[in-house]
Amino acid sequence: MPTDRAVGIHDLSFRTGSLVLTHAELSKHTGASVAKYHKGIGQQAMSLPAADEDIVTMAADAAAPVIERHGTDRIRTLLFATETSIDQSKAAGVYVHSLLGLPSHIRVVELKQACYGATAALQFAAALVQREPEQQVLVLASDVARYDLDSPGEATQGAAAAAMLVSADPSLVEINTPSGLYTHDVMDFWRPNYRDTALVDGKKSMVAYLAAVDGARRDYQAREGLPIEKIRTVCYHQPFTRMAFKAHRHLLDGAGVEADTAAIDDAIAPTTRYNEIIGNSYTASLYLALAALLDGDDELDAATLGFFSYGSGSVAEFFTGRVVPGYRARLRTSAHLKAISRRRPIDYNTYRRLRTHPLPDDGAQHRLPHQTSGSFRLSGIEDHQRVYETVHASADIA
Ligand code: HMG
Repeated sequence: MPTDRAVGIHDLSFRTGSLVLTHAELSKHTGASVAKYHKGIGQQAMSLPAADEDIVTMAADAAAPVIERHGTDRIRTLLFATETSIDQSKAAGVYVHSLLGLPSHIRVVELKQACYGATAALQFAAALVQREPEQQVLVLASDVARYDLDSPGEATQGAAAAAMLVSADPSLVEINTPSGLYTHDVMDFWRPNYRDTALVDGKKSMVAYLAAVDGARRDYQAREGLPIEKIRTVCYHQPFTRMAFKAHRHLLDGAGVEADTAAIDDAIAPTTRYNEIIGNSYTASLYLALAALLDGDDELDAATLGFFSYGSGSVAEFFTGRVVPGYRARLRTSAHLKAISRRRPIDYNTYRRLRTHPLPDDGAQHRLPHQTSGSFRLSGIEDHQRVYETVHASADIA
């Protein structure tokens, strides 16, 4: 029987790659002024995965503290959203299932629609919990955003994973209905199977993103969603953080809500704190915006938040959530800050070397150097199989 109980995000945890390249360092080599990066696109630094990190190790790192806190008894489904898939057949979540020692009575599936995938996972998870409120769903969003070297997109790379436990009577955010939906076939950003890096028409992608803001907002309002002025602030997908400010201006203009630049800055800045030093993390980006907002100074008990999820290609969704009073006691702020501060800064030449050593595809045994500061690593490739290992217990920054 469907439940009347609230359903939503019960726990939220994220981790990022172990390496970091600052935009000040990048600008020395691209010739772009650092102000273009810091102000124009709103990025200070980008996380990069170490040689022995990938979407599986980051996701396992993000999820381990969630499992530690809540156990596994009620988890019946694990949804893994990514657009940096490591296999055309096997779901990356199965490796995470194994690394975390989850029980066998769990279904595990991978979802893809560019950066939108995690929102699809969250909504599907909420529907499963509505149907069977004793069950919990573990939603993982993990990506490495990688563009061609020396391309305009290069400054908008990043890497991170978010883990969300979706349950009835959640501790953090109740997810509301309705949702505003928007799908439009557009070639703004895509990655054919034979490529490691995305192809993108940057300017077209920004236009497509803003069109999706309109489309999803219109559908939300047509379904008798809340008046936009009743929404405290909106967490946007943040391919680079300035995009969120542009999107909020566009949303408010479209809805006929007046706001000056200062009001927009005040509303959006608390959502960008993590993404401006981590970079684009595709599926995880929107949920890092939520983490930044919840971990920040604003008091949000009972506040209504908006969420705008955009995945190039394109699919978008606008929905709202209510912050559960007392949420602050369940946050993981210090662990998030520690995951960021433990990153090792690298210089441009090291970054370049990392990018020019792809994993071999000949099936020969290949060992990877131990570089990660996380609890799980990709130790090598053998017979075309990825071999993962646990480094140590995850409790250090839970
Ligand atoms: P670009 O051509 O290098 O940059 O590309 P630009 O010349 O347009 O400059 C960027 C901004 O910096 C401009 O501001 C400049 O004025 C400003 P705007 O006019 O846009 O407000 N600027 C300066 N500001 C201060 N001081 C200065 C200065 N110089 C310039 N000295 C672009 C930028 C974002 C297009 C590029 O990085 C790119 O292609 N990125 C990848 C695509 C992308 O992120 N698209 C966003 C929407 S699509 C999306 O969100 C989906 C995605 O996440 C994928 C998925 O769904 O899976 C990407």
